[in-house]
Amino acid sequence: MTLTPTRDDKFSFGLWTVGYNGSDPFGGPTRPPLDVVEAVEKLAGLGAYGLTFHDDDLFAFGSTDAERQKQIDRLKQALADTGLVIPMVTTNLFSAPVFKDGGFTSNDRGVRRFAMRKAMRQLELGVELGAKTFVMWGGREGAEYDSAKDIRGALERYREAVNLFADYVTDKGYDIRFAIEPKPNEPRGDILLPTLGHAIAFIETLERPELFGVNPEVGHEQMAGLNFTSGIAQALYQGKLFHIDLNGQKGIKYDQDLVFGHGDLANAFALVDLLENGGPNGGPTYDGPRHFDYKPSRTEDISGVWDSAAANMRMYLLLKERAAAFRADPEVQEALAASRVAQIAEPTLNQGESYDDLLADRTAFEDFDTDSYFGGKGFGFVRLNQLAIEHLMGARG
Ligand code: GCO
Ligand code: MN
Ligand code: MN
Repeated sequence: MTLTPTRDDKFSFGLWTVGYNGSDPFGGPTRPPLDVVEAVEKLAGLGAYGLTFHDDDLFAFGSTDAERQKQIDRLKQALADTGLVIPMVTTNLFSAPVFKDGGFTSNDRGVRRFAMRKAMRQLELGVELGAKTFVMWGGREGAEYDSAKDIRGALERYREAVNLFADYVTDKGYDIRFAIEPKPNEPRGDILLPTLGHAIAFIETLERPELFGVNPEVGHEQMAGLNFTSGIAQALYQGKLFHIDLNGQKGIKYDQDLVFGHGDLANAFALVDLLENGGPNGGPTYDGPRHFDYKPSRTEDISGVWDSAAANMRMYLLLKERAAAFRADPEVQEALAASRVAQIAEPTLNQGESYDDLLADRTAFEDFDTDSYFGGKGFGFVRLNQLAIEHLMGARG
């Protein structure tokens, strides 16, 4: 296995990630602006296959049509020169002051109509550039005060907007799907659809649910104290993992956007094993872009930006290599069997067994001696996990 990224690895980066200038609520930028052409050339040189962007990353909010077109043309030329593709686009409905109470769910109807038009304009551009996924991160769709936002009303307005987009792409025959990106808070005190579970449940209420999935981000689920890998497994199980934002986060605090694997490394190992190998018992894997949504740290200069971009891809490939070694180890296979991990794939009922049959099965209950059946025998999960961690550390094979 090679640790040099290639196009086949499908690594992509947001223009806003490597383009982050290091400013934060406490201080100004550490780095000068990054031009899109330089971003495309550098990312292609490092082995990435894709670039993603918000409208406002490419052309400043309020640009004239001519300024906007000039930037689009420059991007197109850079793509043609390098072979980089645009797998996903998204809209900035959070930076401009007009969006301080949200876009699709602002209390102000005029803002909502503007947000829908802005998103549709970016959707058109995405289709033109061949994007297959349109991400919606609603960082300002939320509230600080329970008295100030009718959440049921806001959900209804969100539905109204996305149902319209689904009608639009269907009528136009566009080959693009939507991915909702959950986040619990920041910048709003509480954001609508805070976790991937909320988002998946919401999607089921839409008129064309098949066009909608999720774009979960490692750090966002971890900000809510949730197990990211386990959430991703559910998204895969429900056919809703349309896109993924990889990065690192250390516990429940502000959104750190560290390099992938620089946060909860053990969970990142399990994640790559899930995405690449289908997890403990195999099963459907993810074949979409491995998209990094991280921020080069505020302490870094431009060479630190490219070091950190490369680090994301290297971390992913290292974890992929470690996961393969874990799966190939006979002792791991034996430990998995001892832990009865494969038994979860076996239906609990016999084929064709009815509830009457189950109720008539005395061995399942009346004659089931829990003491002798259990017999004090453990599952051996700790041994299995130790083997996983040793592989992760490179201590075995
Ligand atoms: C964040 C989000 C964003 C989104 C982006 C794409 O916390 O700022 O992760 O980076 O991913 O807006 O929609
Ligand atoms: Mn984030
Ligand atoms: Mn993100």
